[in-house]
Amino acid sequence: MSQRTRTKVAAGNWKMNGKVSDLKEVTKIAHAARQRKTVFTLLCLPLTLFGRVGGAGLSVGAQDCHVSASGAHTGEISAEMIADASATHVIVGHSERRTDYLESDCLVQQKAQAVLGAGLTAIICVGENREQYEAGQALAVLQAQIEGSLPEAANSNNVIVAYEPVWAIGTGLLPTNEEIQSVHSEIREMLGRQVVDGEGISILYGGSVKGSNAAEIFSLPDVDGALVGGASLKANDFIPIIEALDAAEA
Ligand code: 13P
Repeated sequence: MSQRTRTKVAAGNWKMNGKVSDLKEVTKIAHAARQRKTVFTLLCLPLTLFGRVGGAGLSVGAQDCHVSASGAHTGEISAEMIADASATHVIVGHSERRTDYLESDCLVQQKAQAVLGAGLTAIICVGENREQYEAGQALAVLQAQIEGSLPEAANSNNVIVAYEPVWAIGTGLLPTNEEIQSVHSEIREMLGRQVVDGEGISILYGGSVKGSNAAEIFSLPDVDGALVGGASLKANDFIPIIEALDAAEA
């Protein structure tokens, strides 16, 4: 399947950042996103801002959810509640949750299933850590994560995969372009083997994406967009990334 038929996605992950005073950034990003029609732009915001971006006209996602639809789970939010708040996407299995909260592939799969069950799209994160990268184990790690984290009902309409090498997140370190392309191509094959129309699933790269490196990353044939942390917080940093994706050859 050519890249043209896969959705190009510029997704921001604000993590635990953002106050009401930052909504002006959302407004500016939304305005720029409307001019770049080949790109689906999404901001995964803190839940505290959900109710405040209604007029911005931008797709909004959450960064995690509980596996259950409701119940006695103090402090948690369900995919159903996220859908009720008009969000469309939920990130599951981000490496910060896998590491800090010991989330297993099995739990990530259950969360992704809950996201699909609520009628939303799951952005499922995978990625090797530095030791695994240096030991040449990246592909084996990714294969296990993909096998363990994708729900049975996954397809190219309800799942996006984000490849985020843990060692590249927030560090300014990136794999080479050859490494990114090669890993994305391998992931595409894994998805093709596991999911009926798996080769049509958009695969985003994440980890130290900036305006200055976005164009070369988006020129790689198996990169369908980016999941961006730090550089999504400010419109002046994120808009060049959206523009680079819009300009990338389909
Ligand atoms: P940075 O873009 O800050 O490296 O973060 C990437 C990330 O973790 C997005 O989910």
